[in-house]
Amino acid sequence: MNKNAAIGIFDSGVGGLTVMAEIIKALPCEEMIYFGDLARTPYGSKSKETVVKFSCEIVQFLISQGVKAIVVACNTASASALEELRQKFSLPIIGVILPGAQKAAEVTQTKRIGVIATRSTIATGAYVKAIQSHDPQIHVISQPCPLFVPLVEEGWLNHVVTKEIAKEYLFSLKANKIDTIILGCTHYPFLRSVIQDIMGNEVTLINSAEETARVTKEILFCAGLLCTMSQDKRHRFYVSDEGSRFIELGEQFLKEKIRIITQIDLGKGNPYV
Ligand code: DGL
Repeated sequence: MNKNAAIGIFDSGVGGLTVMAEIIKALPCEEMIYFGDLARTPYGSKSKETVVKFSCEIVQFLISQGVKAIVVACNTASASALEELRQKFSLPIIGVILPGAQKAAEVTQTKRIGVIATRSTIATGAYVKAIQSHDPQIHVISQPCPLFVPLVEEGWLNHVVTKEIAKEYLFSLKANKIDTIILGCTHYPFLRSVIQDIMGNEVTLINSAEETARVTKEILFCAGLLCTMSQDKRHRFYVSDEGSRFIELGEQFLKEKIRIITQIDLGKGNPYV
């Protein structure tokens, strides 16, 4: 495997750019190829089988681009498809669930952790499994928050409507006196301050994106795959639908310019698949 090859990273859409931003911070020398599945987003309301199928197609495409490792920068895809991807493909594939779960299990004092995520992620039970594999005594309270993704994409980060919806979603976590919350969806770090205000400062918020970046660095190091060339980084972006909104929102998520973007069709007859 060529250690100077790019890291592949994918999400259902624009959200995975929050994970990519953290990876850029942790690994500034690495080049990345990002795929956003705009034509089929959101994944958070789809069945496991559908998300597995989409994820396999994307991984195949990224491999055809010569990547050395892949980050599944989508909680829903990680929760639904990571095991299948690892069985099917031989390069290192890193998900976002385990890093966040491990961190939460380490920091909880009361052994009561809340998980907020999409409906599909919660339905897989992946966070509960990952947390309890670390410590079976930990009590996990899960709460799907399906309205958070569109609110973030609308830019309503501090809107009164967002605060009211957040109060409603977080009620059961507050009532269950959790001391740690996993932000188990790519978009939720943008609602950090709303969530913290509702839950109170004594509750620790875990950002899966930061933890994933740390784990990605560790895995590449252990596999001898850290880039050794200080290259002129030119991250490439692929999307499966028209990308103007992706660029607009993505540059805010990534805090960088999106320069090289290509629209491709992963469907039937695609030469890459
Ligand atoms: N990226 C997805 C996740 O982290 C959220 C958006 C979607 O539902 O596709 O679960």
